[in-house]
Amino acid sequence: MSATAPSAAHPFVMAIDGPSGTGKSSVSRQVAHRIGAGYLDTGAMYRVATLRVLRGAVDITDPVAVADSVRGLPVSVGSDALVEEILLSGEDVSAEIRGDAVTAAVSAVSAVPDVRSALVEVQRALGTARERMVVEGRDIGSVVLPDADVKVFLTATAEARAHRRNRQNIAAAGGADDYAAVLESVRRRDHLDSTRAVSPLRPADDARVVDTSDMGFDDVVQLLTELARENMGAAL
Ligand code: DC
Repeated sequence: MSATAPSAAHPFVMAIDGPSGTGKSSVSRQVAHRIGAGYLDTGAMYRVATLRVLRGAVDITDPVAVADSVRGLPVSVGSDALVEEILLSGEDVSAEIRGDAVTAAVSAVSAVPDVRSALVEVQRALGTARERMVVEGRDIGSVVLPDADVKVFLTATAEARAHRRNRQNIAAAGGADDYAAVLESVRRRDHLDSTRAVSPLRPADDARVVDTSDMGFDDVVQLLTELARENMGAAL
C-alpha cells in the first residue's frame, strides 16, 4: 500500500474485497460516503451480465455462448455511494439483479474468463474515474486495481454470514427462516468463488484482513474509515 497523496493523475483508491455476507456492500457504501469518495459495486456488474444471459435463454454451462451474450454489455453503474443506480440498456435492473434467479447463476457466469476480462477492463476505468473511489468486489486488490492505496479483505465465518443472511431473509416480506439451507448456499458459493480458475477469491498479499464475525457494523465502518484516512494523508 502506498501513502501517495491523491491527485488527478493518481486517484485515491480503496479496494474492499471478500465473500458475500460480510456486510461488505453496506460497509463500503458508508465508508465511501464518509470519505467523500465515489463507489463502484463490481458484483452488480457480474449480476447484470448474468441477467442478460438469463434473459437471452443462453445455456449458462456453455462459456462461449455466455461470453457472446455478454459482449458489449450495455451496463451503466452509478458512482454515488448512497444511491443504487444500475441500468441494462437504460432499464433500471437494480432490484431484479438481487433476485434468486440471478443469485443462483452468477457464480457460473462470473467464472467465464472472457466475461471477466471484458468487465475488468470497464471496472479499471470506472474505478479510477473520480479523485477518490471505494471499489468493492472479490478481486479488486489482487487483479483489477493492484495498485490500490488501501486494500481490505473483509471476511467472517460461514456460520456468521449465514446467520446474517437468514436474519435478512426473515426480515424481508414473506421471507422464510431456514438457517441450514442458507448455510449450505453460503458454502456452495464460497466453494465456487474460491476454486474457479480465473481470479479465485482470496486476499491480495498486501491486503489487511478484517474478520467481522464478532464486529458490529459501526465498528467495521469506523475501522475502514480510519484506514482510508491514514492513507489519504492530510487530504481530509
Ligand atoms: O457481491 P455480489 O454477491 O453481488 O457478487 C455477485 C457474484 O459476482 C459473486 O458470485 C462473485 C462475483 N464477483 C466476482 O467474481 N468478482 C467481483 N469483483 C465481484 C463479484
